[in-house]
Amino acid sequence: MSDTFDAMWAGLAPLGRNRATGGYRRYSWTPADADVRAWFTAEAVARDLAVETDRNGNLWAWWGDPGPDAVVTGSHLDSVPDGGAFDGPLGVVSALAAVDELDRRGLRPVRPLAVTVFVEEEGARFGMPCLGSRLLTGAVTPERARGLADADGVTWGRAMADAGFDPQRIGADPERLARVGVFVELHVEQGRALVHRGAPVGVADRVWPHGRWRLDFSGQADHAGTTRLADRNDPMLPFAETVLAVRRAAAEHDAVATVGKAHVAPNGTNAIPSRVRAWLDARAPDEAALRSLVGGVDIAARLAAAEHGVTLASYQESFTPVVDFPGALRDRVAALAGAGAPAPALATGAGHDAGILAAAVPTAMLFVRNPTGISHAPEEHVDLADRHAGVAALADTLADLTGA
Ligand code: GLV
Ligand code: MN
Ligand code: MN
Ligand code: MN
Repeated sequence: MSDTFDAMWAGLAPLGRNRATGGYRRYSWTPADADVRAWFTAEAVARDLAVETDRNGNLWAWWGDPGPDAVVTGSHLDSVPDGGAFDGPLGVVSALAAVDELDRRGLRPVRPLAVTVFVEEEGARFGMPCLGSRLLTGAVTPERARGLADADGVTWGRAMADAGFDPQRIGADPERLARVGVFVELHVEQGRALVHRGAPVGVADRVWPHGRWRLDFSGQADHAGTTRLADRNDPMLPFAETVLAVRRAAAEHDAVATVGKAHVAPNGTNAIPSRVRAWLDARAPDEAALRSLVGGVDIAARLAAAEHGVTLASYQESFTPVVDFPGALRDRVAALAGAGAPAPALATGAGHDAGILAAAVPTAMLFVRNPTGISHAPEEHVDLADRHAGVAALADTLADLTGA
């Protein structure tokens, strides 16, 4: 088992790597994305799995008939800007290694088994996380998805077409979804809970509700040397005040909220900006807290904008309701994945395709310990022994669920 995991890991590692930072830039429908998709297809074909691309660009590799009542496992291969190696790929490589492990044990699934790769999980290029699984389940309309644009104005529809896929066919796929009996995603833990529990593997209990909002502060571009302070309409000022308000609102709600991306126009050292476009990422233990947090930020941003003679337009770009994974399945997976005692159950503020699929099919998640606790950064890590423990836990889970 460990051999096949390690060999696959070594094959995937160079693809889409930014040598300057050691992080990954695997954005949907780019050459790096084509490389990781080709890598997955070759690994699946080498295992005699039948690979297909669904109408939304997600990859499916089937062991046995393509459903119905299939046990499906997988994750994503796209990354955030300069992301770590494990967020997404750990679940995909572990799924293929778990297939090897079942084969090595001489087991044959009674229920069909598939390994999936969901497209644009991070929303790093087109702004909406879990776009592939949202399209599959109908959580986003095809019109909205086609029109999502990257930083250069290239739409999802255009990029998908350029990559050789038909964007007119995207959308809810109930027929495919009906083939899925259960979905299990293995993922690197993106915090330190498993380190504190002293456990290599855990299961997901809840995904916090979360969303993304875009804030456009528009003022008047002007000369940095000749415009009196009293005459300025500088959008940088309400933007800065809003960032601090975000931090305060998150602390007040026992939540987390982040401004991790901002564009300044025209972005000149000696020019007062005409516009600051910023993105708010907010996540809270429950939806009431999240709505209250975001409402508070909105009021603070509007007051700051008015004070500085700047206009503010805000948009909700995505929203994901709270997900409570079904308890019986969670406990079954925890019992299979734990060594002696059940694997610990964790709530997480990170979003996952499993959270989207949970609205449509019975779903569970396995988390694997990350000794740094850091994620969405190159320092994200999983020790070798824990990678193998994750594969063993997933293989035991798949063997049980497929009746192998
Ligand atoms: C995706 O990883 C997210 O939760 O931001
Ligand atoms: Mn991520
Ligand atoms: Mn992920
Ligand atoms: Mn995620």
